Amino acid sequence: MLMKPVTIVTGATGAIGKAIARQMAENGYEVIMICRNAQKAEAARKEIIQTTKNQNVFVEIADLSRLSGIKSLAARMQAPVFSLINNAAATPMSREETADGI
Ligand SMILES: NC(=O)c1ccc[n+]([C@@H]2O[C@H](COP(=O)([O-])OP(=O)(O)OC[C@H]3O[C@@H](n4cnc5c(N)ncnc54)[C@H](OP(=O)(O)O)[C@@H]3O)[C@@H](O)[C@H]2O)c1
Repeated sequence: MLMKPVTIVTGATGAIGKAIARQMAENGYEVIMICRNAQKAEAARKEIIQTTKNQNVFVEIADLSRLSGIKSLAARMQAPVFSLINNAAATPMSREETADGI
């Protein structure tokens, strides 16, 4: 298969993020799943590869609530990126602060 450029999906273990990652893989894109939980990420990656037959699905681990996690991830991203889908988010039921005090 002729691969399309790289697409990055954050929160790709979640309901919407995993569906987007699967759809992009189905359409032949190389997909980089940005996830914070390695175990969940690997399970989702395997499931997407199995259902789409696209082997070009990869995981990068990053906690996006931490500036250090974002900076470390950005430094690791070398490939030209075709699309970045900023899907990851959390909706806490009460006020919370991140480790950076945000
Ligand atoms: N579902 C809806 O009805 C709805 C409506 C309006 C807007 N949205 C928005 O759509 C997006 C996806 O919603 P969803 O329903 O698919 O949510 P979800 O199932 O809760 O998935 C959220 C994803 O974001 C990841 N995530 C959360 N905090 C993170 C962090 N600090 N670093 C890295 N990853 C992090 C989660 O990782 P873990 O798996 O490790 O938890 C998970 O993969 C969110 O932005 C949400 O606000 C959803």
